[in-house]
Amino acid sequence: MSSIWNYPTRVVFGDGASKSVGEEAKSLGAARVLVVTDPGVEKAGLHERVLDSLESAGIKTAVYTGVDGNPVESNVTGGAEAFAEHRGDLVVAIGGGSPMDVGKLVAVRARTDRAWEELDDAAGGSIHVPADLPPVITIPTTAGTGSEVGRAAVVMVESTGRKTVIFSPAMMPKAAILDPELTVSMPPKTTAATGFDALTHCAEAYLAVGQHPMADAIALAGIDLVNKHLVTAVEAGDDLEARGAMMQAAMMGAVAFQKGLGACHSLAHPLSSECGLHHGLANALCLPAVLDFNEAAVVERVVHIGLLLDGQPDLGECSKAVRELRAALLLPNGLGEAGVKAAQLPALADLAFEDACHRENPRKCTRDDLLALYEASM
Ligand SMILES: NC(=O)c1ccc[n+]([C@@H]2O[C@H](COP(=O)([O-])OP(=O)(O)OC[C@H]3O[C@@H](n4cnc5c(N)ncnc54)[C@H](O)[C@@H]3O)[C@@H](O)[C@H]2O)c1
Ligand SMILES: [Fe+2]
Repeated sequence: MSSIWNYPTRVVFGDGASKSVGEEAKSLGAARVLVVTDPGVEKAGLHERVLDSLESAGIKTAVYTGVDGNPVESNVTGGAEAFAEHRGDLVVAIGGGSPMDVGKLVAVRARTDRAWEELDDAAGGSIHVPADLPPVITIPTTAGTGSEVGRAAVVMVESTGRKTVIFSPAMMPKAAILDPELTVSMPPKTTAATGFDALTHCAEAYLAVGQHPMADAIALAGIDLVNKHLVTAVEAGDDLEARGAMMQAAMMGAVAFQKGLGACHSLAHPLSSECGLHHGLANALCLPAVLDFNEAAVVERVVHIGLLLDGQPDLGECSKAVRELRAALLLPNGLGEAGVKAAQLPALADLAFEDACHRENPRKCTRDDLLALYEASM
């Protein structure tokens, strides 16, 4: 069986890099851009330099801010209407994973009215995503999801109440602009939680089933960056070196997880849709138990991650190092502390089992395994 390895995204990186968005958009032939963002990013004024740059390049802009954390269908519908009304020809999505995902889905909606249930990647919906989407430029203001370079977007589908992944190579942004200055205003808690999303992407990609030596190497380099820089980014938010390193780690996580993710993301998705937990925090709370569970199947790889995190090449060290990092970042130390009740776990396990990510986990998971992982994460 052959494998497919793709690394084509154009990435512009550097302090102040977001001022180049006008030129990037112009080089893609844009004349009318919809800027998709959310109220938090707007309040921080981060979209202003983007608007200035686009307008200096002679591009007509409109702004759409109707994006929730854990975006829902109506966020995309509103964005698609704004895009049509503006007669947009390119989307610039600036913000964390939520506005970037909505921006990518606005581009999908501009070309198809198909129901999200039919576009659902887990149901083979990728073939229904048209190839000729309007171009998207992503500008992350968090360092975690890696959505800026990814070909997927997550939306909560109304009929099922489930976080649903829409995926297509056509959804790959034409350029990602990584400007560490835009992440300086990110509060410590969001920095910690999104940083854990990046770490989880790298760890799950490295452990995922499948043969992908390039993804493996990138995942390990991403883990090393998180280990060296996340605590500084949380404690000294204006340290641009740490902020830049975390942006790179986040991007690398998403480049690596085209190999696959794993059980931790299946556990995390219902924790967001049912309990409202931030996606990165949900990963932070479940990752240690998943690492312990996976150690039996891929011992050398789990030990390798532990070695990178705390220099100890021993069994059980990896999850211990992750728990210590979580504590150092002052994140809750279990699902209970984050407000999840034991009585909720069986229903969460049913949803986690329906989620597709665990199919790539290196150790096969039953629904009862996922329940046991939730219990071990309490
Ligand atoms: N497409 C993918 O491959 C992928 C991967 C992982 C996660 N996701 C999705 O991404 C979403 C989570 O994204 P996220 O973790 O980046 O959080 P987010 O986009 O929901 O942002 C969290 C909060 O931080 C604020 N914020 C963002 N940047 C800021 C800044 N620089 N200064 C001040 N405030 C700022 C936002 O306004 C928001 O209130 C989830 O919906 C998740 O499902 C997508
Ligand atoms: Fe994630």
